[in-house]
Amino acid sequence: MALSRRTLLATLGGAGAAAAVGVPLLSGLRGASSTGALLASRLPLPRPFTLPFRVPPVLAPVRRDATGDHYEVVQRAGWAQILPGVRTPIWGYQGIFPGPTIVSTAGRRTVVRHRNELPVPVVVHLHGGHTPAGHDGYPTDLLYPVGTAASHDDMSAGAVAYGTRDYDYPVRQPAATLWYHDHRMDFTGPAVWRGLAGFHLVRDTAERLLGLPDGDRDLPVMIADRSFDADGTLRYPSLDASLLHTPGVTEAYRAGVLGDVVLVNGVPWPVARVPAVRHRLRLLNASNARRYRLALDPAPRGGPGFTQIGTDGGLLPGPVGHDAIELAPGQRCDVVVDFGRYTDGQRVVLRNEFGDRTTAQVMRFDVAGVAADTSRVPDVLGPAAPPAAAAVTTRTLHFRHDVVAGGMGWTINGVPFDPAVSNADPRLGTTEIWRLTSDFHHPVHLHLAHFAVVSRGIGGPGPYDHGPRDTIDLRPAEQATIRVSFADYPGRYVFHCHNLEHEDMAMMGTFTVA
Ligand code: C2O
Ligand code: CU
Repeated sequence: MALSRRTLLATLGGAGAAAAVGVPLLSGLRGASSTGALLASRLPLPRPFTLPFRVPPVLAPVRRDATGDHYEVVQRAGWAQILPGVRTPIWGYQGIFPGPTIVSTAGRRTVVRHRNELPVPVVVHLHGGHTPAGHDGYPTDLLYPVGTAASHDDMSAGAVAYGTRDYDYPVRQPAATLWYHDHRMDFTGPAVWRGLAGFHLVRDTAERLLGLPDGDRDLPVMIADRSFDADGTLRYPSLDASLLHTPGVTEAYRAGVLGDVVLVNGVPWPVARVPAVRHRLRLLNASNARRYRLALDPAPRGGPGFTQIGTDGGLLPGPVGHDAIELAPGQRCDVVVDFGRYTDGQRVVLRNEFGDRTTAQVMRFDVAGVAADTSRVPDVLGPAAPPAAAAVTTRTLHFRHDVVAGGMGWTINGVPFDPAVSNADPRLGTTEIWRLTSDFHHPVHLHLAHFAVVSRGIGGPGPYDHGPRDTIDLRPAEQATIRVSFADYPGRYVFHCHNLEHEDMAMMGTFTVA
């Protein structure tokens, strides 16, 4: 199986052409809450709150030994019943969507052997993982399908593997909600849309000793919008449905693909029965392009509905109250909701204040029964942020739409992603300031390192910027600065926009730590 190397991006148009291309497509988006276009489903959608909430299965290790925990995952096509009475073909880790949840213990090595039984090459990235470069899922470090013969004319090749590959994670990082998903160059958007995404949780003793809600009161909540075709398949506007040759989506969707069905852990608008006690919700926005503003309806009496305890990189130093949570693609937010503040029998809708019609609601909690609750949310959660190290370098990075290969694409500093180019070369063990500017919404994500948001515009960090982030929700015409330290692992990594259509259409760069 030979992949053509970035056929779409073979040539880069002059900057002068930018004004002529893409602006009509994007006009009117500045006031919108998400950058992208709605792709409507072509079959009747179920009524919300009719299907039960479920939690993805936790993957059992095949082996535990002194060196760590070993897992095996088969990536394959499968069938899912997502809409009632409709069979939907998906691609999944273990053939399911979401994939199984992997649970690591901080400080214990986790090795995941992936076997590719899909018809396309894959790349696995542990999003939020502090991972050595060779295991981070660089977009050209392809894992070809089982049975593929090694080929030497593969121009796109990074460190390729055939059939199976071991991803070896040292997990030298604190408790956090991470996730894993496909990351193949040019085709991440459609592959994740078809189902290649799952949770990967890191637990540690310090977190366990806090007494936060645990067990069946610790709920992963993967929020992802999708659209369905009349035959039940997931609808996506790929130029090449085989996902092998021509990357990209049709013109109307180059700013992002927005679905009209909101799935939570793969179920449309589910309903969860919860006892009237505190629950931890690990909110993850696994959507390609949609941003959410999540709020509880009705809001509980006596204070904010959400107590935020954690963010992308782990626990906050202390809890932060929010009436609503804004979440851009790729981001996580760990919150505690005390359903004890509602009355038994009350129905509480998790609304999306950025949505409209079908996307204005996410799921419902039906408060059912009182129960003992020994959980708590202490005033001190994680370690305070370490004193900021002096930055040795300041880089400025402009994220904007641009002409790429004569059509509309997305670039960083005018340069489309090219694995042969390193766009930034931080020195190992140093700290840098990155100034990020945007034209539209760009959730900017760095691999390897979590960062602190220093400022937005002329103000300080925003209400959702607390703690160690790996993805910043950059809003239209915004300038933000982040402080990032490059510790432990040398090598080449990517940073990119986590609007997956922007990422596939070249809004990605390489940084090389040496
Ligand atoms: Cu969640 Cu580079 O990605
Ligand atoms: Cu973007």
